[in-house]
Amino acid sequence: MLPLLRRRHSTLTTSLDRAKRLAATRAVRENFSPAHNYIGIGSGSTVVHVVSSLLQVATANTTFVPTGYQSRSLLLSAGLRVALIDEVPPGAIDIAFDGADEVDPAGNCVKGGGACLLMEKLVAVNAGRFVVVADWTKISTKLGERYAPGVPVEVLPAAASYVMSRLRELGATPVLRSGAKAKAGPCVTDNGNFILDAAFPGGIEVADAAARIRGIVGVVEHGIFSDADRKADVVYYGMKDGEVLVQGIIQ
Ligand code: 5RP
Repeated sequence: MLPLLRRRHSTLTTSLDRAKRLAATRAVRENFSPAHNYIGIGSGSTVVHVVSSLLQVATANTTFVPTGYQSRSLLLSAGLRVALIDEVPPGAIDIAFDGADEVDPAGNCVKGGGACLLMEKLVAVNAGRFVVVADWTKISTKLGERYAPGVPVEVLPAAASYVMSRLRELGATPVLRSGAKAKAGPCVTDNGNFILDAAFPGGIEVADAAARIRGIVGVVEHGIFSDADRKADVVYYGMKDGEVLVQGIIQ
């Protein structure tokens, strides 16, 4: 990267990180209660700030429910008490905090940029309140228009090429997510599955896309978080100017 481009890139990274931290701090301040027994913790770079804020307020009663390897390691290294989702009674999570790749005005989200969408959704549907923390780059008027890779879809490895062909019939251009430089071949999720990134040119009609993708044999879960399963109850966006925009969702 040329020196000027490198400087611009690092300035953006710093301001995004600051935005995430400010949004996380406010989200925790306005939503955490010492009465919470179980708190779900999502995956990605934003939740690192959520966990830092929770560290200041968590009590001895608080147990944290991670959504994958990254969040579990983060919680354990912070010395927090962890329970896996199948160790918690159904519906017992008081509140879950998570990031998102894209959020629309109704609180529908695209998630799964970190390949943790299955456990993130499982934790979210078991939570009494679902709080999304994000930055200004995630604000979308129509899902599918903002996050270029598209809708992440977790699939059984043996079904990957079949699911890709069905996604193409739905108008998507699916790509098998690669392990990039870290691994030759596909990205493998915490659950041993593959991820397809399905871009829908022009965006998606949320309810229709969620139902059609779910109906494909071999799909384990998709990254559309909507009324069909769980959308955000409230979203905290860290903005470029240092403000935090709170988008309360009308149920
Ligand atoms: C992981 C996710 C993350 O919440 C999403 O990718 C946002 O990540 P970040 O906070 O790093 O921007 O869905 O599966």
